[in-house]
Amino acid sequence: MRKLKKSAPVWVEIDLKRLRNNLQVITGHLEPETQILAVLKSNAYGHGSVQIALELQRNGIAYFAVARLEEALELRRAGIKGQILLFEPIFPEQMEMVVENHVIPSVVGMKSAELLVGRLRQLRRKIKIHLKIDSGMGGPGLLPEDCREMARFLKQQKRLEIDGVYTHLTSDYRGDSEAVRSQLEQFRQAMIIMEQEEIHVPHIHVASSLAIFTLPETHYNMVRPGISLYGIPPKEGLGLPLQPVMQVKSRILYVKELHANESIGTYGSKFTASHRMQYAVVTVGYGDAFFLLTTRQGSVLVRGRRASMISQSRMNQILIDVTHISDVSEGDEVVLIGEQGMESITAEDATKAAGIPSINCESVCLINPKVPRYFLGSRQEWKRNSGAQPAVDELETAATDYGNG
Ligand SMILES: Cc1ncc(COP(=O)(O)O)c(C=O)c1O
Repeated sequence: MRKLKKSAPVWVEIDLKRLRNNLQVITGHLEPETQILAVLKSNAYGHGSVQIALELQRNGIAYFAVARLEEALELRRAGIKGQILLFEPIFPEQMEMVVENHVIPSVVGMKSAELLVGRLRQLRRKIKIHLKIDSGMGGPGLLPEDCREMARFLKQQKRLEIDGVYTHLTSDYRGDSEAVRSQLEQFRQAMIIMEQEEIHVPHIHVASSLAIFTLPETHYNMVRPGISLYGIPPKEGLGLPLQPVMQVKSRILYVKELHANESIGTYGSKFTASHRMQYAVVTVGYGDAFFLLTTRQGSVLVRGRRASMISQSRMNQILIDVTHISDVSEGDEVVLIGEQGMESITAEDATKAAGIPSINCESVCLINPKVPRYFLGSRQEWKRNSGAQPAVDELETAATDYGNG
């Protein structure tokens, strides 16, 4: 496996020790009885959902969330035993898979609830569900004014067992506390109806990463961290000791000279050297790291120094200016996201350079799933009888073992 990494043109390193650190940072902001529902959607934000889930499971996490059924089935096949919530509602024809694999779908409206109950009657089975309330964000979700009808419907049947009620806060609340106050009030109204209708709700959850750190009143008895688990702060300036879990690396393929006034170009973008310079061809492109497609002013790290991209990314290559870096040679490691020497490029830096106007994590989600992921620092399971501290093993495992590499 080490050989594979040495010969890979581009790869991702996932540091599971850092994942454990981030889990501790999150836990440190919670009351002891608050449970964590770890968000693993989109291949755990590009990190590799199976390995991330296995590590979280070894560290006591028993609730996971993904968007779609296929993602949940992948986790079950890999041996994830905990509860798995689907954020998206399911179609009635997916019910058998849901039942067989003990997956918890979100119920978002009366019509879909009735369809699900109909299918469960045919199968003579029952399932757990979480009720998703639309408190103002729009998209799938039950409006608070429809909660009483839903509560009464749920009480009358035995096929859908309510395991949780939740809502998602609009990301506008990063700068708009009025919107979040209104959402929280809507959600509170929905929970009052549940109580009046004597519906027991074991899990109530509202907070994703930003609210975990900034709005303790939203914690209820469960929280849903995503981005912060992966070490990316949900907002600048929070001063949290989160550590980025992912590094994206490649290698130098070729080093070349360029004379003053000489031009090189890629699909319509042309670079003309103003002085004699040296540039390197790096064996990574937008076909590997999709965010490079829109990156215009990106830089990478070589021999601990920053090197700027000198033209638009090609599908499998970028060109970088290495004139100022001595002894650059073919095979040298190049860091696109991560650290080298004293320098670092964060996921936020890469996302900004790609001009993605967004929630700072897109660059980590935008790595081709075929790029191999290497997992470092996996913690071995506690030895049941010895009572010893878990051994920290610098195991490296390629995600290809799980078919997502
Ligand atoms: C419903 C829901 N809850 C929680 C999260 C996690 O959010 P964050 O990554 O900001 O922690 C997401 C992610 O988009 C989500 O869709």
